[in-house]
Amino acid sequence: MTEMFKCIENVHLSDDGKSLVIIDQTLLPGKREFLTLSTREDLWDAIYKLRVRGAPAIGIFAAYAIYILSLKTDAESFDTFYSEFKKNKEYLDSSRPTAVNLRKMLNRMDDKVVSLKDLSIPEILDGMKTEAEKIQQEDVEICTAIAEYGLELVKDGYGILTHCNAGPLATSKYGTALAPILLGTERGMKFSVYADETRPLLQGARLTSYELTSAGVDCTLICDNMASIVMKEGRINACFVGCDRVAANGDAANKIGTSGVAILAKYYGIPFYVFCPSTTIDMNCETGDDIKIELRNPDEIKSLHYEKPMAPDDVKCYNPAFDVTENSLVTAIVTEKGIIKPPYKENLRKFFENERV
Ligand code: MRU
Repeated sequence: MTEMFKCIENVHLSDDGKSLVIIDQTLLPGKREFLTLSTREDLWDAIYKLRVRGAPAIGIFAAYAIYILSLKTDAESFDTFYSEFKKNKEYLDSSRPTAVNLRKMLNRMDDKVVSLKDLSIPEILDGMKTEAEKIQQEDVEICTAIAEYGLELVKDGYGILTHCNAGPLATSKYGTALAPILLGTERGMKFSVYADETRPLLQGARLTSYELTSAGVDCTLICDNMASIVMKEGRINACFVGCDRVAANGDAANKIGTSGVAILAKYYGIPFYVFCPSTTIDMNCETGDDIKIELRNPDEIKSLHYEKPMAPDDVKCYNPAFDVTENSLVTAIVTEKGIIKPPYKENLRKFFENERV
């Protein structure tokens, strides 16, 4: 495994333990720069500006971030400490609305704090640190298990189309959608991956193609509107995408443009697989209509990745960051605990029976 895939380093505590260090994903692939963050505003901004991104990575980052913020406390009683914690939790949770891992990992830290309420504040802080580390370590295992399940769906030589980035940078190891590709490559399998560039923030061009080429995977970058032609030309055997939230009926929110890929895949008879840790499935969300879609700054469309603005100053822009792929277009959902097939409402319920979600 190359240096880049020791991804646990992508989010980690500083040497003095008081800050959070991340690789700034907005600068990749041109610059590999680490940021040291400790203020509320900088931590919030890192999520909002996509310096750290991808549903699992956001969740891991948030768990460490709330610990870092809690370290600053002067509280002498649990009640004061907990009310500060709640304010920080709400603030971090407001940074991005779609990826449910953010809320779930903050809730997990909340549960931890409450479970330790009879201990001293330093002991609670120690417990929080251990919990954040545990969340990150679990993600390493989750990526590996997803990779193994995903390999059941491919054959050597497959052409795979992916959208956005669901690779190592978005997690703590192999990623989700890219996990079987990377593990299979380590085992000597060959794949031809077509990476959608993923307008407007170019996660496919900047991150997926960087990760795959660095790992020695045959990767071809295409514009989003080229997905149809590569499918028609018979280059694609399967589509692999990540996701930010799966509703209880199997509707799946992922990066804007994903649902278009799924519609094309259905037309061309190509299987469309959604990959995620089971924590990305939100049984409290009945359907995709209940998933909040993040709307982002129009400048991301007009100017962010251009030398000069590419549209008139006063043109209106609509910039939803995610869309929802209807469950009828999803061939299967691949998690660390197994592969879930339709009918999703029934099978997701069974999947979570006896489990707290
Ligand atoms: O806006 P982003 O870059 O955070 O969007 C990321 C995605 O859409 C990923 O596919 C998803 O979070 C899964 S990452 C394993």
